[in-house]
Amino acid sequence: MKYNKYNRRKFLTTVSACTAAGLLMNAIPFSGANAQTNSFSSDEETKNDYLFSPGLIYLNTGTLGPCSRRTIGATKKIWEHLESFPLQFYAEKFAPELAEKTRIIAASFLGCEVDELMMTRSTTDGMNAVVQGLNLKSGDRIITTNQEHEGGLSGWKYLAKYHGVIIDTINIPFEVSDTDKILESINAAITSATKLVSISHVFSSTGLRLPIAEISSLARSKNILCIVDGAQAAGSIKVNVKELGCHAYMASGHKWLMGPKGTGLLYISKDAQDKIHPMQFEDSYNTYNQSTGVGNLPGILGLGTAIEHLTRIGMDKVEQHNISLRNRLYTQLLNTNNLTIVSSPPGALASPLLSCRLPEKIESTKFSPMVLEKHKISFRAVHKQWFNGIRFSTHIFNTEKEVDKVIEIIRKELKS
Ligand SMILES: Cc1ncc(COP(=O)(O)O)c(C=O)c1O
Repeated sequence: MKYNKYNRRKFLTTVSACTAAGLLMNAIPFSGANAQTNSFSSDEETKNDYLFSPGLIYLNTGTLGPCSRRTIGATKKIWEHLESFPLQFYAEKFAPELAEKTRIIAASFLGCEVDELMMTRSTTDGMNAVVQGLNLKSGDRIITTNQEHEGGLSGWKYLAKYHGVIIDTINIPFEVSDTDKILESINAAITSATKLVSISHVFSSTGLRLPIAEISSLARSKNILCIVDGAQAAGSIKVNVKELGCHAYMASGHKWLMGPKGTGLLYISKDAQDKIHPMQFEDSYNTYNQSTGVGNLPGILGLGTAIEHLTRIGMDKVEQHNISLRNRLYTQLLNTNNLTIVSSPPGALASPLLSCRLPEKIESTKFSPMVLEKHKISFRAVHKQWFNGIRFSTHIFNTEKEVDKVIEIIRKELKS
C-alpha cells in the first residue's frame, strides 16, 4: 500500500473507531488477508494456517513457536505501510496508538489491567527489566531453583557477580510428584535478608507445572516478592496473573503465543510498582515511550494478532487440546525401550511439555537431529545440564495423527 492522504485518513478513522475491546485486525485495515476461522478440528485446515515445510512434524514450540499466516500477513502489511513513510508513521502517532492495541489485548489475555502490562523483546528481556528495576543491594538474598532457564537466571547471576546479591538455589528433583515439598523448601530458605522468589511457572526442563498461586501466597505472607518466568506457560496453558497472585510475570511472544520473534510481555502488579522500576519503562508503561525508544512495532502488532487468535479459540480449549496430545504421548511412550519419561503423569502437574530421559549411550544432541533428518520430526534435545533427554511440545496445530506417527518413529528408533 502506497502512503497517501486518502489512505492515511482512512487509516486514522479506522484506528479511532476501534474501541478498547475492538479487535486488532479490525484496527489494521490492511491486515488479515488470510483471515481464517478457528482451524482446530481438521488436520488440513490446521496445517494450512502455517508455513511449515511439507511433511514437517513440529513438536518444538517450547523452543520457538511458528507464526501463522494470519500473523505474518498482519505484521507484513503494517511493516510495509511503515516503510512507505517511516517518519510519518512514527511521528504522527499511528504507531503508538496501534501498539497500544496489543497492550490492551495482551492485558486482557493475562487477566490484568493495561497499566500493569508492558511489551518487551523476550522473557529474558522482561526478567532483566525486573532485575534491573529492583535496586537490590549487597547481602540481599533471592531464592530460585536448580531448574530455571538461563533467561530467567542470568539477571540474578549478574546481580550476584557485580552487586553482591546472594542466590539461594532450591534443589528440586526432576521426577516430582508432590509440590508441597517445593513449598516447604522455599519456606525453609526464606531468611530476613530474602527479597524475593524467582521461579518458572512451567519448567523448561520437564514441563512441571509449579504451584505458583501457593508460592505467591507464601511470598506475600513473608512480605517478599514472587517473580514468575512464564515463558513455557503463556499461550500453552491458561494463565491469569491475578489468580496466580504473583508480583511480576514475563512471557515470550515467540513461543506458545506464536507471535513474531523478538516480542514479549511483562506484567508488574500495581502493588509491586513502587518496588520495581525498570529503566526502559521509567517514562511510562506504554509500548512506545521516551525511555524505550523506537521498538519493533510491526512485530508487536503481529503479536496482538496472534494473541487475539488464541483468545478467539479460547485458552481453555487450547490447553485441553495441548494437554490431550501430550497425555497421548505420555501413555504411548510409557513402556518404550531406552526411554524413561521424566515428566509428571497426566494430572495437575502436567503441561504441554513432555520430557524423557535417554540412556547415556544415546546422546540426545545426536538423536534429535538424526530423527529430524530421517523423519522430518522436530523436538528438542534437553540440555545436558539437566539430563540427557528429549522434550516434545504439543500445540494447536499438532494433531493426533502426527503424535501417533511420532510415537511409532521414536519406538522404532529406540528399539535396540
Ligand atoms: C523457562 C524459560 N525461560 C526463559 C526462556 C528464554 O526465553 P526468551 O528467549 O523469550 O527470552 C526460555 C526459553 O526456552 C524458557 O524455557
